[in-house]
Amino acid sequence: MGRSCNLLFALVVFILLHTSFSTVPNISTDEAALLAFKSHISFSPNNILATNWSSSTPVCTWIGITCSSRHHRVTAFDISSMQLHGTIPPHLGNLHFLKFKK
Ligand SMILES: *[C@@H]1O[C@H](CO)[C@@H](O)[C@H](O)[C@H]1NC(C)=O
Ligand SMILES: *[C@@H]1O[C@H](CO)[C@@H](O)[C@H](O)[C@H]1NC(C)=O
Repeated sequence: MGRSCNLLFALVVFILLHTSFSTVPNISTDEAALLAFKSHISFSPNNILATNWSSSTPVCTWIGITCSSRHHRVTAFDISSMQLHGTIPPHLGNLHFLKFKK
């Protein structure tokens, strides 16, 4: 009994800390993740990412990017036709609503 109360207490404290100190992910989170991805690309034909994936334009207008209007988050990311060379950074894990397309 005492042990399960402690566990419950720990869980409540954890949830409170978690909700008050972590920032809510939004489209800016997705933009940061995609910009991190872009910075890991060593080669793209015609520099398409460098010219098109610009933080001065909305992420949802970037080439290869699809957003959901409901969540206003990035839901698809189709770069298969771009023949990119580089590595995939861990930041892509921040694209919470992402469903990979082939
Ligand atoms: C996204 O969240 C950050 C911090 O949580 C906030 O500063 C920013 O204004 C938000 N951006 C949008 C587009 O809602
Ligand atoms: C990026 O490409 C999309 C699709 O071709 C186009 O609609 C958009 O205007 C481009 N944006 C920039 C900044 O070049």
